[in-house]
Amino acid sequence: MSRDRLIIFDTTLRDGEQSPGASMTREEKVRIARALERMRVDVIEAGFPAASVGDFEAVRVVAEAVRESTVCGLARALDSDIERAGEALAGGGRTRIHTFIATSPIHMRDKLRMTPEQVVERAVHAVKLARRFTDDVEFSPEDAGRSEADFLCRVLEAVIEAGAGTVNIPDTVGYNIPEQFGSLIRMLRERVPNADRAVFSVHCHNDLGLAVANSLAAVANGARQVECTINGLGERAGNAALEEVVMTVRTRQDVFPCSVGIDTTQIVPTSRLVSSITGFAIQPNKAIVGANAFAHESGIHQDGVLKSRETYEIMRAEDVGWSANRMVLGKHSGRNAFRNRLQELGIELASEEELNRAFARFKALADKKHEIFDEDLQALVTEAGTEAENERVRLVALKVCSETGETPHAHVTLTVDGAERQGRAPGSGVVDASFKAIESIIASGTELQLYSVNNITSGTDAQGEVTVRLEKGGRIVNGQGADTDIVIASAKAYVNALNKILVPQERAHPQAADV
Ligand code: KIV
Ligand code: ZN
Repeated sequence: MSRDRLIIFDTTLRDGEQSPGASMTREEKVRIARALERMRVDVIEAGFPAASVGDFEAVRVVAEAVRESTVCGLARALDSDIERAGEALAGGGRTRIHTFIATSPIHMRDKLRMTPEQVVERAVHAVKLARRFTDDVEFSPEDAGRSEADFLCRVLEAVIEAGAGTVNIPDTVGYNIPEQFGSLIRMLRERVPNADRAVFSVHCHNDLGLAVANSLAAVANGARQVECTINGLGERAGNAALEEVVMTVRTRQDVFPCSVGIDTTQIVPTSRLVSSITGFAIQPNKAIVGANAFAHESGIHQDGVLKSRETYEIMRAEDVGWSANRMVLGKHSGRNAFRNRLQELGIELASEEELNRAFARFKALADKKHEIFDEDLQALVTEAGTEAENERVRLVALKVCSETGETPHAHVTLTVDGAERQGRAPGSGVVDASFKAIESIIASGTELQLYSVNNITSGTDAQGEVTVRLEKGGRIVNGQGADTDIVIASAKAYVNALNKILVPQERAHPQAADV
């Protein structure tokens, strides 16, 4: 039986970034985009260029860096948004513009204040304009899951006629349930007269925990593109998780008449990368990528798996990229070995200067920790990258004092815009004291929203990877730091977050009402 291809459209860098606290820098987006390309994702939605100068730049550099996947930019059905997306994608290889306008009665009446006629006209105009920039145009009727069937058919027929090659049906508010959503897709494919000229796509939100189930019901009813994100990141409760959609279609080939082109061994490394950049920890029991996803605790299960793994395992851990920690480099490894291993991991550093910085960190780490694993290298590179772009505040030295029965103290030396400054403070623990000592110098006025520590590999000599989330005036940023000493890792993460907060950025939301 010949199988259709199911197009995997990843929106981690756009809808995923709309998760409060998940904002990413341009360099972080490029790293994730490269990992997605390595995973052979078909389409990467890199951002919403009209949102801010930062978003525009991020889409531009991702479009320039990625050649194997199609790079997509989101645009409201507004001339200015579409022109901006076209401009951001101009230097890319395969590119797509994804334009949208809401079609549900509640959105048209209360948000857009437009009549259905005006919405159809605007949608058609947007698609035609987008086609001037690229042949690959996708249209989404926002809130399709609550739109009227007849009107949806009318809009879709008109935009396909206007040149949209993909029509995406979003369950924007996560309201649909699988049977109903599957029937909606079937009905649209049957009733829209020119349906055979477009790929039907779905984009499901997880407000009721049904995003993956709804997406799969749509695939069973003819959808041939699924929009999803790594670890299910996304606005509110998130989007359909890429790893779950892909592994379900792959594992249940008896049910789904299509195949995916994804290199599934890249799933776990990419999931970790996204988690470490965004600071969104992965729950241990998360399907596919959670730490316990392939761990068998009960004696009966362990016994069964030892006799024959299929007794309790439906997938192989190594097929999704779980591997035992592997010692790859050590104290005596040279610059070439370091560079080669990074290349094998698909990590490209932006410049020779960045490679030098990462190598210096590697040497310092190898002095403290004799076995360096791939995960350590990933963390090193994340740090070298963040340091390059945010240099207003730098951690020079940290000394902490902790003794039973005494109040912990921290003494920190920073450079702020090049000038050395010192601060000291007591705290409830050494991490608290370190953050207060930093604040005694910076007085940032931020609020700490999250502090989390993860060990990168196992053992007490492992590096701790710390994420710090800070909020100021509604703006939320994440900072990361890694070190074998978790107090130093914490201070690095705090300084990294402060540097991001000190760079102001204006940003619009894609679903804002000003269409
Ligand atoms: O959820 C949604 O409706 C969206 C659209 C922009 C596709 O993210
Ligand atoms: Zn969405």
